[in-house]
Amino acid sequence: MMNTEVSGKVCIITGASSGLGQALARLLAAQGAMLAIGARREDRITALADELRETGAQVVAMVTDVTKRSDVEALVEAAKSAFGRVDVLINNAGVMPLSLLADGKIEEWEQTVDVNLKGVLYGIGAVLPIMQAQRAGHVVNIASTAGHRVIPTSAVYSATKHAVRALSEGFRQEVAEFNIRSTIISPGAMSSELLDGISDEALASQLRENIVSYMSPDDVAEAVIFAISRPANIGINEILVRPTLQKS
Ligand SMILES: NC(=O)c1ccc[n+]([C@@H]2O[C@H](COP(=O)([O-])OP(=O)(O)OC[C@H]3O[C@@H](n4cnc5c(N)ncnc54)[C@H](OP(=O)(O)O)[C@@H]3O)[C@@H](O)[C@H]2O)c1
Repeated sequence: MMNTEVSGKVCIITGASSGLGQALARLLAAQGAMLAIGARREDRITALADELRETGAQVVAMVTDVTKRSDVEALVEAAKSAFGRVDVLINNAGVMPLSLLADGKIEEWEQTVDVNLKGVLYGIGAVLPIMQAQRAGHVVNIASTAGHRVIPTSAVYSATKHAVRALSEGFRQEVAEFNIRSTIISPGAMSSELLDGISDEALASQLRENIVSYMSPDDVAEAVIFAISRPANIGINEILVRPTLQKS
């Protein structure tokens, strides 16, 4: 069903090749948004763009590695030149290679910081001048319940998600006068490919066994769309969304 508050909005989605990003692309396109989608896997991002164009959506797709500032800037520039403006940036790309600090997986720590925190910073840096000039815009950062709590093995991942929440709040305060909105979406367990990035297989299967219930990416995408579709004078600043059965 066409959502009049979403229809015609230019939305950029990072990490759109699976999970939440892909669900968001499909739902936003169905509601009449114009999209710029990015991720590293070219086959996936191209197939998604083709699928959405078949339904009549206007879509720009680019191979985008958010750890490369020039890739993020190119994605934002592609959206601006195709559609003339940028209404919403959804910083969704993320990795979660959980491990104990004592395992010393320093390259995974770096990747987590580079994707989950620096990637978000590059996104904000690329859209902010455009949104300031427009005196309108909206940045949605996908954090996590891990941005509210820490467990053994989540130290680095939780650190990045806590940081994203702090960044989103600072951004909100600094850009409010430009009519720019800031939203944090903090999901609990959601079925996606995220657990595949855990290199410790025993830990990954233990986690899979312990998760009592999953949301679908569509469930979380609906929360994002709720925030995007409020009237321009209303900022939904954070949504925590968990499966009912998830206790922590
Ligand atoms: N699943 C959960 O339970 C859960 C809970 C809380 C928060 N989250 C957050 O939700 C967001 C989406 O994750 P998901 O659950 O949908 O997992 P997912 O299915 O693994 O999707 C992650 C996406 O991020 C992209 N990505 C990874 N590294 C990238 C990079 N360097 N540059 C660009 N894109 C990159 C992946 O695409 P490519 O590999 O093609 O680049 C993929 O499209 C993440 O921020 C995650 O932390 C998830």
